[in-house]
Amino acid sequence: MREKIEKLGAQFREEMSSVSDVQSLEDLRLKFMSKKGYISELMKELGKVPPEEKKDVGQMINSFKSEITSRFEEKKDEIIRLQEQILIQSAESYDESLPTDTLTGSFHPITLVQRQLEDIFESMGFDVEDYNEIVDDYHCFEALNIPPFHPARDMQDTYYLNTPNQLLKSHTSAAQNAIMIKYGRRLKEEGRPIRAVFPGRCFRNEAIDACHENTFFQMEGIMIDKDISISNLIYFMKTMLSEVFEREVTVRLRPGFFPFVEPGFELDIQCLICGGDGCPSCKNSGWLELCPCGMIHPNVLRAGGINTEENPYEYTGFAFGLGLTRLAMMKYEVGDIRTFNDCDLSALSQFVSR
Ligand code: PHE
Repeated sequence: MREKIEKLGAQFREEMSSVSDVQSLEDLRLKFMSKKGYISELMKELGKVPPEEKKDVGQMINSFKSEITSRFEEKKDEIIRLQEQILIQSAESYDESLPTDTLTGSFHPITLVQRQLEDIFESMGFDVEDYNEIVDDYHCFEALNIPPFHPARDMQDTYYLNTPNQLLKSHTSAAQNAIMIKYGRRLKEEGRPIRAVFPGRCFRNEAIDACHENTFFQMEGIMIDKDISISNLIYFMKTMLSEVFEREVTVRLRPGFFPFVEPGFELDIQCLICGGDGCPSCKNSGWLELCPCGMIHPNVLRAGGINTEENPYEYTGFAFGLGLTRLAMMKYEVGDIRTFNDCDLSALSQFVSR
């Protein structure tokens, strides 16, 4: 028995010395230490050893076991250190004196437009809010005056999760209810108007082409107070768009239907390329559709706890849903929406600005 243990010890040391990667180290450990390994075999045989020798042999097995464990740990550290060393040596050397500009990358064009808009709206007293990408049916539709089976849902088919009642938000309007609830008390108790913008990623079940993506960005904005009117909406939109495009823009409103605004509009800007004369970019109309908007529907204000049943018109407000992706396409003259999600650095890194 003693001889057997010594022989196994020698075998272990020899095999250990030729191990050079973590996997074969693990295999070796299992060969000795697993349930069917040599150590278990020795333990079984210990039963047959004459009683006077049992203690000594038992001790031998135990010290062999701890030798295996400690050698195993040592070897593992050694292999990892060695592998790191090899990685460091094979890594490309880099020149510390290179300007960092060439190494740090750039912001995504949508991030650039988003940040620019956030700055503009913050300067006009708006809070910038963040919101979930996974929402429930109530926030995405019902709280926005879109009951189940309403035909307006067809326009916003999205992706539903396996978890009941969870979906990827199809528009940033899904955050309206939460923002109203968050700021409603402040509005009523302190008289501070609600002014908030909330950018976010939106999803729709779309066939993808140069103008349509299943994943895109919007920036929603709402303002609620006493006596807010369409004039306020037009003023804010015009000021904001003039800043984004860095020149005076002309806007017009056309009627547009969205169940959560009444009246609802499509806001167009006069084409910046032809100045309204008509060109291919504006399909010869002289106008570009940019931002759906409108006065928040009384049912939505009620669902958000802003107005009561008894006093349904105490507060009024406007909402707009700016297509951030759309805006980025216009601002940077990007012809194909897919460019933004393609992760093609040669396209995306052209918009460098930090
Ligand atoms: N949520 C609407 C959409 O994505 C846009 C919108 C927002 C319309 C706010 C009116 C007011 O289609």
